[in-house]
Amino acid sequence: KDESKSVETRLGEICELLRSHVDYYDWVGFYFKNGDKEELKLGPYAGAHTDHTIIPFGKGICGQVAVSNQNFVVPDVAAQDNYIACSITVKAEIVVPLFVNGENVGQIDIDSNTPDPFTEEDERFLEFINQEVAKIL
Ligand code: SME
Repeated sequence: KDESKSVETRLGEICELLRSHVDYYDWVGFYFKNGDKEELKLGPYAGAHTDHTIIPFGKGICGQVAVSNQNFVVPDVAAQDNYIACSITVKAEIVVPLFVNGENVGQIDIDSNTPDPFTEEDERFLEFINQEVAKIL
């Protein structure tokens, strides 16, 4: 195992890899529970800069997943009332929680500029990615 790269670097590389290899993945990032606070903090990401570096639990798609512990697939972000817009080009979003020893410690968040692109295959794939990520945290 190559220990020379930091977790941050590895997570950033995963984001870049996912974004560049899947044409409908336009923004890929990780959010993590911010210490003991009831909020998420933005971790490594690939894609456009976002101002949403802190998201309170319950707010937006990400904040809801922090509380529900469930995948959240949004085929049309315009149809969501509890949604935090990062870019006007985004049409759809998927958020999959990241568990370490059964605890929801964060999530992978993907925005798409394509309407309704996410399938169960994306859910299974991103669950697998998160399981692998959990091993290096
Ligand atoms: N859209 C998210 C906010 C994070 S940005 O997509 C990077 C939400 O509603 O929680």
